[in-house]
Amino acid sequence: MISDAYQECIDPKCMLRYDIKEFRLSCSKGHPLDIKYSIKPHVKLKDVFAMRRNHGSNIYNESGVWRFRDLINFCQIDTEDYEECAKYLASLDGAEGRLSKPFKMSKVAEYVNMHKDCLFLQPEGYNPSGSFKDNGMATALTHAKLLNVKKIMCASTGNTSASAAMYASNEGMECEVYVPRGEIAIGKLGQALQFGAQVIEVDGNFDDALAVMLKEAKRSNAYVVNSVNPFRLEGQKTIVYRVLEYLNWEPPDWLVYPGGALGNTASAGKCLMELYEWGWIKKIPRLAVINAEGASTLYTLYNGKFNGKELRWNKGNVDLDLINEYYEYMDKNNIRPRTDATAIQIGKPANLLKALRALEFTNGVVECVSDKDMYDSMAVVGLNGFDCELASGAVPAGIKKLREQEIIKKDDVVVGILTGRQKDPNLVINYHLNPSNRFAVTPKRYKG
Ligand code: F0G
Repeated sequence: MISDAYQECIDPKCMLRYDIKEFRLSCSKGHPLDIKYSIKPHVKLKDVFAMRRNHGSNIYNESGVWRFRDLINFCQIDTEDYEECAKYLASLDGAEGRLSKPFKMSKVAEYVNMHKDCLFLQPEGYNPSGSFKDNGMATALTHAKLLNVKKIMCASTGNTSASAAMYASNEGMECEVYVPRGEIAIGKLGQALQFGAQVIEVDGNFDDALAVMLKEAKRSNAYVVNSVNPFRLEGQKTIVYRVLEYLNWEPPDWLVYPGGALGNTASAGKCLMELYEWGWIKKIPRLAVINAEGASTLYTLYNGKFNGKELRWNKGNVDLDLINEYYEYMDKNNIRPRTDATAIQIGKPANLLKALRALEFTNGVVECVSDKDMYDSMAVVGLNGFDCELASGAVPAGIKKLREQEIIKKDDVVVGILTGRQKDPNLVINYHLNPSNRFAVTPKRYKG
């Protein structure tokens, strides 16, 4: 053992601890868990990470996740020993996170009214399964392997299931995915099937699929790879490591994510809390989380749009009654999340508490954007030669809205995360077929 990792409840009044080899989604009192490391990593590791980019034939150096393995070493292995890495770490031949880094996108900068050298977007869609999920699936499957798991399960709006199915097939595990019937992008459904997963279609939305899956997983003692699994969030921290490494560990002013189940928000918050505590960064970037207007639970609660109370982490004293009242109000009035960006069509974000903690630590903001704005933003990203899916369009759309309010300044350094690749070409085609759309280039018929 070269480090000392354990699981710990996030509630400061509880802080129950569990061994790394236990699989649980919460403490015995039902609170979410963090993975903790008692040994502070040496800042010289920054040089080690840089050296590993010249990876030779070592897939664990090539991987944009496992390059940072010393900071997510919950298996407590010798990170320099290739054989040990190969025995423990789940990787798609080093492909996860390999192509991800911030890019400047001048047309997007112009669209959101920012200085072109200040805006960066990091396409996480260029991961093996086409979304940021692979960052976390690599670590979740690593933990599953450690526990000798034979079968994994998830509920998904599409990308989690594609990623889970891909990693499970590579590790020879069974995979069962619960999806809201008719409400996931066709390309994502195709991926889950192609990678050999058993797809279970649930009549209802993602929130319903998650509830059903958690019940089934408990019954059959299956390993859950949704973002309520703290080991998955460890892998997603590497999204932030890659941003910071690219910026020579000088934190940007803002990190911007779309908000769905809020796994990314939770993970980025934990990552920044750790780096700050270790003294690796002196400044804390502010998190901006962007909901779709039609699926805006965090936006509504955080900004006091329900019952006039602003929901806060409040050092762990979260107003849980407010959350319950809002969920009851949603259920009673049949308020269902509704957006074309099905990836983030979520009403009850499973990582809400951790997200509130992240927003408190980073002095974050939460905004929401219309589907129309997401479509335009997705089109502008395309004009810079990158593709992204509609949910990722929330990022430029949100930056634009925060710029209009001067919350983000023109020369702030902003890094937005484009979470997934385009997996529903019909959305793009329909956008361009309608000439009234701002960036539509409508196909013409050749007349000779
Ligand atoms: N962007 C994309 C492309 C996603 O697929 C998701 C979530 C999000 C953003 C939201 O991220 O949950 O961390 O706030 N997709 C999940 C899924 C729910 O099942 O694929 P989050």
